[in-house]
Amino acid sequence: MCGIVGAVSNRNIVPVLVQGLQRLEYRGYDSCGVAIHSASLRPDTANSGLRRARSTARVMELMAQVEADAIEGATGIAHTRWATHGAPVVHNAHPHFSHGRGSDIQAGRVALVHNGIIENHDELRASLEAKGYVFRSQTDTEVIAHLVDSCYNGDLFDAVKACVLQLRGAYAIAVIHVDEPMRMVGARAGSPLIVGAGQGETFLASDAMALAGVTDQIVYLQEGDVVDVQAGKFWVVDSHHKPVTRVVQTVLAHSGAAELGPYRHYMQKEIFEQPRAVADTLEGIEGIVPELFGDGAFGVFRQIDKVLILACGTSYYSGCVAKYWIEAIAKLPCSVEIASEYRYRDSVPDNKTLVVTISQSGETADTLAALRHAQSLGMAHTLTICNVASSAMVRECKLSYVTRAGVEIGVASTKAFTTQLVGLFLLTLSLAQTKGHLSEPAEAAALKALRHLPSALQAVLALEPAIISWSEEFASKENALFLGRGAHYPIAMEGALKLKEITYIHAEAYAAGELKHGPLALVTSAMPVVTVAPNDTLLEKLKSNMHEVRARGGMLYVLADADTHIQTSEGVNVIRMPENYGDLSPILHVVALQLLAYHTACARGTDVDKPRNLAKSVTVE
Ligand code: M6R
Repeated sequence: MCGIVGAVSNRNIVPVLVQGLQRLEYRGYDSCGVAIHSASLRPDTANSGLRRARSTARVMELMAQVEADAIEGATGIAHTRWATHGAPVVHNAHPHFSHGRGSDIQAGRVALVHNGIIENHDELRASLEAKGYVFRSQTDTEVIAHLVDSCYNGDLFDAVKACVLQLRGAYAIAVIHVDEPMRMVGARAGSPLIVGAGQGETFLASDAMALAGVTDQIVYLQEGDVVDVQAGKFWVVDSHHKPVTRVVQTVLAHSGAAELGPYRHYMQKEIFEQPRAVADTLEGIEGIVPELFGDGAFGVFRQIDKVLILACGTSYYSGCVAKYWIEAIAKLPCSVEIASEYRYRDSVPDNKTLVVTISQSGETADTLAALRHAQSLGMAHTLTICNVASSAMVRECKLSYVTRAGVEIGVASTKAFTTQLVGLFLLTLSLAQTKGHLSEPAEAAALKALRHLPSALQAVLALEPAIISWSEEFASKENALFLGRGAHYPIAMEGALKLKEITYIHAEAYAAGELKHGPLALVTSAMPVVTVAPNDTLLEKLKSNMHEVRARGGMLYVLADADTHIQTSEGVNVIRMPENYGDLSPILHVVALQLLAYHTACARGTDVDKPRNLAKSVTVE
């Protein structure tokens, strides 16, 4: 969601903070800001104290503002925001200041940035107002800044420790104080925060990627940790405020942002990276063994008799595809739930269930909460398919399969989805094998198909010119329907999500058999109907659904396997998929839909990588 970078150094750290923000900008881009302690660099400066710049434009603009205002300092904090409480306007942008009780608007005493949501902000706000604090924003974050000030008694570390005891909700914060120029304090609960240990300088960030090229020595703070940061050193206390040592790890974070290469957008780059991402995700796999998912996987797979998949958004759709595979190939009952629904509903727990979470980021708040909810109900067999090895999801699940999509910058998920499907197919095969449903020839055939997948994906990418011609027609539409059957129904849903997410065209997906139960009423000659048509056992049924559309004048756009014999004709536009790919066919069809969404967005001139109102990883509820 939002992004945090902070530093205590002995050089002007503002360029590092702003570059860090640029790397985190894809996570939230409603506004951005930076605050520094000017005395940290030049102690004798007249009027030294906290200074800040904030903007509702992009980080590039903030950079210009910072330079124009000569904002420099060795201690500073910065933030890029995805608005939750309060509109995306400058006075709601972080860093927030506390000016102390009463209101000398010029003199900030505390500057603070925050990721997460404070649930008890209303009651805290009322009690702080009663003490004389004046609020200048509609955010929950400003409450924390005033609370730190009200707890301050000459020691910022103590003040933050006292403050967090009063917070309910999720937070990662970084705070500086006017009286302590060479100090920054951080704290986390429910939102990630890391410490970067540099040479004579120390950083805080919500993601190691913010510090790419600055330091690779990273400490992942744990739930409830509070950290005292000074130049070249730091101290951590745990949730009971007992001193603890946290391991420093070497993390090779890629800046991502520097590597757009020949592509116009990160989404385009990431679509074209899929053959490589899939090959990397499969690297080193010689055969199907449960241990692909971690030590002890065989024992777990033997004990379980059903699967529950929990995820959000695109990751949820990959789970929906996996349901078809797991039931058909591994013969295990499988349910898939939207994490934000599962976490709050009364469900019937069963400790013989394998709970599978799917997440690109591994930090999605609803998916993590759903996992913890399942654990609290006694379901201990947990496994995640996740793209970030160091994420909370991987740490909190017993078993894991880490996909190797690489950093995904585009808000619209593409390569994360296809690599999730690869991980889920491997899981299906491992479960089938453990349960005695995978013969050796079937295993060999599945592995052969997986190994050939990168070349098959290349062939789909080669369809780009034909897809561009469709996108020129889609660009003027305001509605679209997507149809699919079986494991390609979730692919239709994913195609509709991609289209609405980055083009703002209203798109809905239906299981093709559902059409006549209501949505057919929407079909006119103005309605494009995208149909995912693999050559599978449901093809003839799907063809009947296509006739239903044509009979009402609807315009069909069909992604048809080469051997389906569906021909281009009046009102029927066909793009031929290169080959029928059996169980793995959803992985090919989705790539064509990604390209359709991407090129339609380009034709409409939307901000492809940063679609309105969205953010990359949703670390708030
Ligand atoms: O990081 P996660 O996979 O847990 O994220 C889940 C969704 O927020 C994400 O897939 C979202 O739907 C994407 N923007 C879709 O393109």
